[in-house]
Amino acid sequence: MEDFSMNAEYRTGHELIDAQHLKVLVGLSQLYGELLRGKTKEELYGTVENLEALLKLHFFTEEAMLETLGCSGMDEMVAHDAVFLRHLQQVFSDYGENSTTETVDGLLFLKSWFVEHVRHVHKRCVQYANGIERMVGLRLDGTN
Ligand SMILES: [Fe+2]
Repeated sequence: MEDFSMNAEYRTGHELIDAQHLKVLVGLSQLYGELLRGKTKEELYGTVENLEALLKLHFFTEEAMLETLGCSGMDEMVAHDAVFLRHLQQVFSDYGENSTTETVDGLLFLKSWFVEHVRHVHKRCVQYANGIERMVGLRLDGTN
């Protein structure tokens, strides 16, 4: 069984970003469970749409927060975020033509991709932002 839990390794130390990463993992897990229970493409529509909305909100939040800070690798992160969303749409637009097994494999590939990206690029950039926040005494997401 695939593990979708929020591993300590994925934590950035930024409350809002960590909460969003957790929501995305929960959304991926829900989709995985629904696929394994044999839901059809039509039945999955709402779950996929919800996950897409979560991802868009998260990527927008993270990119907006980091945009002016000059974190190296930021351009790569933005490009990867866009490609990730396209892959998610592709995996589920092909569901029906592709088998459930192929769709599950596509979803697990996306989950690994998300987790690896969180562990490396997202975590590094958010920790960089956390350092700047501490230096200037302000929260970049406006929560203080
Ligand atoms: Fe992120």
